[in-house]
Amino acid sequence: MRIICIDNYEDMSRKAAHIVSSQLILKPNSVLGLATGSTPLGMYKQLIKSYNDGLIDFQKVTTFNLDEYYGLDRKNQQSYFYYMYENLFKHINIDIKRVNIPNGMAKDIEKECLDYEKSIRNCGGIDLQVLGIGRNGHIGFNEPDIRFEALTHMVKLDKQTIEDNSRFFNSIEKVPTKAISMGIKTIMHAKKVILLASGKEKAEAIEEAIYGKITPKLPASVLQLHPDVIFVIDKAAASKLD
Ligand code: F6R
Repeated sequence: MRIICIDNYEDMSRKAAHIVSSQLILKPNSVLGLATGSTPLGMYKQLIKSYNDGLIDFQKVTTFNLDEYYGLDRKNQQSYFYYMYENLFKHINIDIKRVNIPNGMAKDIEKECLDYEKSIRNCGGIDLQVLGIGRNGHIGFNEPDIRFEALTHMVKLDKQTIEDNSRFFNSIEKVPTKAISMGIKTIMHAKKVILLASGKEKAEAIEEAIYGKITPKLPASVLQLHPDVIFVIDKAAASKLD
């Protein structure tokens, strides 16, 4: 595990974008695993800038997002499809046919999850997975106590996650209570992982993830076992590390 601790959110975003850019320069047909939420927004802005400057190209890139809310249509402004389209995809030359996000409206969820895993495998696996982290240590929507061997599956969101994510909705009642998420096993199969964290409200989860016991009660702690993982975190998120 490598830990890169950086002054602030902007520098964290720039560093993360450099890591993704090097991946694309070394392997233009990379398979990227992507996250949503507030944390990677700065990184996506930086990637768009690098694309506009002609430094990187997304033409041959395939993407798989970590998760999607259950019951939200792609056109819904709170869906993760909408988020990815607005914050990254519409600004770059990615082939939308190579964009993969779980379908939150799928009738047969079990099939949707199995097909998602199959598509990842058929693309040769994820080369670089980008992660954020929840205050409760979740990665993707793998909430505390999800077994480590889980593949893509339907999850029931934690009370804390629903509270945290209610900032994106008009009211807490509007936050979906379920989501489809890659599992811990799916994430651990990625060849490289970078986890981004910013702000003091993530400090405890970061400390536990790096120094704590490896336990499904703090899902991110499993990353201690990943052979190629980088934590790119700002000073506030690192404030509980010695
Ligand atoms: C998002 C995801 C989540 C977020 C986490 C942190 O696709 O999988 O694990 O990364 O909830 O969210 P923010 O960045 O909003 O604090």
